[in-house]
Amino acid sequence: MKNFRFKNPTDIRFGTGRLDVELHDAVSQFGSRVLFVYGGHSIKKSGLYDTVKGLLADLQLTELPGIEPNPKIASIREGQKLVKDNDVEVVLAVGGGSVIDAAKVIASAKFYDGDPWDLVKDRGVTRHKLPQLPVVDILTLAATGSEMNSGSVISNPETHEKLGTNGPNTPAVSFLDPTLTYTVPHRQTAAGSMDIFSHLLEQYFDRSKNNDASKGMMEGLMRTVIKWAPIAVKEPDNFDARANLMWSATMALNGVMSVANENGWTVHSLEHELSAYYDITHGVGLGILTPRWMEYALTKDSTTAEMFARFGRHVWDLEGDETYAVAQAAIDETFDWIQHLGFPMTLPEVGIADERHFDAMATAAVANARLETRAYVPLSEEDVKAIYQAAMTDGLTA
Ligand code: NZQ
Ligand code: ZN
Repeated sequence: MKNFRFKNPTDIRFGTGRLDVELHDAVSQFGSRVLFVYGGHSIKKSGLYDTVKGLLADLQLTELPGIEPNPKIASIREGQKLVKDNDVEVVLAVGGGSVIDAAKVIASAKFYDGDPWDLVKDRGVTRHKLPQLPVVDILTLAATGSEMNSGSVISNPETHEKLGTNGPNTPAVSFLDPTLTYTVPHRQTAAGSMDIFSHLLEQYFDRSKNNDASKGMMEGLMRTVIKWAPIAVKEPDNFDARANLMWSATMALNGVMSVANENGWTVHSLEHELSAYYDITHGVGLGILTPRWMEYALTKDSTTAEMFARFGRHVWDLEGDETYAVAQAAIDETFDWIQHLGFPMTLPEVGIADERHFDAMATAAVANARLETRAYVPLSEEDVKAIYQAAMTDGLTA
């Protein structure tokens, strides 16, 4: 196992009934001037908006509504102006990953006088030199892990860019109440579960040797998502399903799983290009691309069969001595599980009807994640294009 350093100070408040008692102090410990950031209508419909307003009635709340899925740089610019004009002391994010991601960049942008796209474009280099306002969040969708990490993913529709940027801090306080995810529709529940599963896969498939501590934790979390995601899709108010997904989402991407990791991520960079060009739901794009990437990786580099077979045996309970056959069966199981969650399984089904942007998308995916040198199975632009092409048609090819 490689050397590592791990620190994550986010104060997690998991469970029901906490907001009434704890939200006010969790926010006001940082000051009384608050930027309240949220998305579309979901928190108004669920009543959470009124709850928050009621609990924080004595604080000075400035609102920034309308953060869209795949949050856009225009919202960050608007937020930057609001935090500066109102001398905001703390940012409160209420929503899914998009809202929390936006809040974290706005929290940095208060201390930057230029265009906040600079803070995204340089992937966080400038943000690490700046202070950052504390962020308190109330999570309403189990998916990204943004509630306990320092990352944000922001889109610029004008330039077709969707880029990750890291800040100096994780959220100060995160409220994780599984009952707040009861209203998440089927499609978003499936997409969020796929995102959690993908975060685990991205960190699981690496070249580190004998790191059973990390791999074993990831296998446990993957089994948890495989078991509970279909239940949450069918029974939206099943507490155990929502609770298991929520905590798995947080644990999958708070840094614990990646300690001593040796490779960068692959499928996320391919998906970010789909979202950048077609504004599709992140988890849906991952669902389409993941089994195609698996199949491509196994075919291109047969030394990966060992890891795919381990994944098959430990995560899918597959049996058999034939390593390559177990590896291939694990990929089939993954495809079937995703399909049974109700996903569209091809790019045309999400409105990507032709290959016109594949060259540009492949170039950006390879460059942004340095896939030729950092990926578990190194990928060239041609390789990435082949994976997009495989996702144009039904099923797997093998
Ligand atoms: O906008 P509202 O009305 O709130 O509706 C949202 C949105 O339409 C809805 N929703 C959220 N909670 C709900 C709900 N609807 C009903 N009931 C609730 N309780 O769900 C829709 C999607 O929300 P969004 O926040 O976009 O979803 P998610 O949490 O999956 O976030 C996706 C974004 O996070 C980025 C993705 O690329 C994408 O931009 N990621 C962030 C990461 C990070 N910070 O570490 C890592 C991830 O890999 C990912 O890239
Ligand atoms: Zn993701």
